[in-house]
This record gives sequence, structure tokens and C-alpha cells, in this order.
Amino acid sequence: MRKEVVLITGANGEIGHGLMEYLGKSEDVQIVALDIQELDEELRPYCYRFVQGDILDNMLLGRLVSEYEIRTIYHLASILSTRAEYNPEAAHRVNVEGTLNLLKLAVEQAEWQGRSVKFIYPSSIAAYGLPYLERKNRAGKVKEDEWLTPQTMYGCNKLYCEHLGRYYARYYKQLGADSGTSKIDFRCLRFPGLISAFTLPSGGTSDFGPEMLHQAAQGLPYNCFVRADACLPFMVMPDAVKSLVDLWAAPRENLNRLVYNVTSFSVTAEDIYTIVARSFPDVVVTFEPDARRQKIVDSWPSEIDDQAARDDWGWEPDYDLEQAFEEYLIPNIKDRYRSKK
Ligand code: SER
Repeated sequence: MRKEVVLITGANGEIGHGLMEYLGKSEDVQIVALDIQELDEELRPYCYRFVQGDILDNMLLGRLVSEYEIRTIYHLASILSTRAEYNPEAAHRVNVEGTLNLLKLAVEQAEWQGRSVKFIYPSSIAAYGLPYLERKNRAGKVKEDEWLTPQTMYGCNKLYCEHLGRYYARYYKQLGADSGTSKIDFRCLRFPGLISAFTLPSGGTSDFGPEMLHQAAQGLPYNCFVRADACLPFMVMPDAVKSLVDLWAAPRENLNRLVYNVTSFSVTAEDIYTIVARSFPDVVVTFEPDARRQKIVDSWPSEIDDQAARDDWGWEPDYDLEQAFEEYLIPNIKDRYRSKK
């Protein structure tokens, strides 16, 4: 008998840290974690097995298929928006070909098991692309089917992988004799910028939010790479994990879409500065916008509409702006850096 497991790719990344800790604490989940980098020691106790390797390595994925009965895949591995612009073709390989490999793995698993495999995929506000700032400012809350003209490689990759997920779930090998029997239960969230008290993202464009906070908490100055009025939607990590797990748990028949926006609060870089300065009054933040990264932020919506998620599976964030900072970020971040001193 093969062991029943949940496979998490990109386990050592930002979301991976939050999700591993959450799932790892529940006794009935056995996690097989995959990451190209060594796994953080703190996460070791949460996984049944850690495999260091590349999602582009089909031999490795093949071995996982033969060793485990994978019931759910959280496919988190990705190259984020800023980093992807430095090597778009490499980003495409990881973000798209890597996702294709995992979808294929899911198909093989589902065929073996004769039942569906859940494929949980985090997409992003980067899937949107508003043509210019003034249009962004007039756009209001953007719904899932609007403004799908991304300007970054990462955004193009995420949007295309959403389509791949839909294809694998609904149309896979549609001309074959056993067409219509795909057992991939693809479920996707479009995340806003994420902020964790414990980890920092790397290579993203919404990183100015978390970076400002973490620098301030360490008593370090921060030179913000976007204008003070740059506005994006954000969410804290416990809510991101909650949304992944809640979407996973939702009854399939309640889901009217494959892709859902989720969000919590929308803030400008200056709002973040004001809130951070309340707790760390000595913080020195300067604004020196990098025109190219600013342009990416200007193409992402200030607000996204998550009504469909609320209606279909009862989505609601636990933390609004005030609670995010006062109850989660500030206390935990103070502890984190105090204990590192
Ligand atoms: N946080 C991501 C980035 O900035 C967006 O999903 O690339």
C-alpha cells in the first residue's frame, strides 16, 4: 500500500512556510514537501518526507508518483514578478512547464487511484493588467474576468496556468475514448500581496509592504522602491493559509468558478509607513521610486472583488487592516526580532 499524502511544492517559500506549519500541526495530514532549496529546519517536524529537487525534473516527479498516493497537491513553487523579468524564459520554464508537470502528475495519480486529486493553485493580482495609472485609479474593485492583460512574465504565466488548470479539469484529452473523465479538481486563488510576520518574500513587486515592516522592526532604514501613493491590495499570511485550506475543503458543487479573488485590505505605501511608524517611531523610510517596478505596480489593481469567494465558499478574512498589524504582524514581528538579538 502506498502512503496517502499531500504534496506541497515550493514548501520552503513564503506561503509554504505558513501552509506547512498549519497543515503539519494537524495529525491526519502527511506532507511530502518538495523544494529546490534545502528546507528550513523549523519546518522539518511538519513533514513526513522532504525531497530537495526541481519541479522540472520529470524523473523525480515520476518517483513520487510511484511511491505515494497523492490526494492533494498545493503547487506553490514559482518565480515571482520582479525576478521573472530578469530572465523571462527561465521564469516561463519554472512557472509554466513546472505547473504542467504537476498537472500531469495529478492526472497520473487520479488515474491510478480511480478518484479525483485536488490541485490547489495560487495565482495572483499579477494576472491583471491595467493599461495606465489613471485607469487603475478609476477601476474600482476588479472582478475575476476583467482586465486580464498582464504586463509581466509572471502575470502571463499565472494567467496561462489558470487556463491550463481549467483545461486539465474539464477538457483534458477531449477527443480520446475516455474523454470527459478527467479527475483533476482544480481550484485556484488570486492572491493580493502577502505579508507574513515570520518570513520575507523574494523577488516580488509587492515586496515593499513586507520589506518596510521587517526593516523597521529591526531598526533599519528602508528605501521604498515605489511612490508613497502606490496602492495595492494585501492580506496577511494566516488569511492566505485560511483561504487555501477553506477552498480545499469547499464542497465541489458549491464552486461556480475555478478561479477566485481573495483579499483583505487595500493600502498605499504611505499608509503602511504610517502604521509601521506607530509601532516603530524611529523608522526612517525614504521613497525613491524605481520607474520600472512602479510601472508594474501601476498595472495591478488597487482593489479586487472577492464577492464570488464569499458567496460560494464563505470566504472572509480574519484580519482587516487594523487587526492585521495590531494583532498579528506587530506583536509577532517584535517577538521574532527580539529573540534573534
Ligand atoms: N507578490 C507577488 C509579486 O509581487 C504577486 O503575486 O510578484
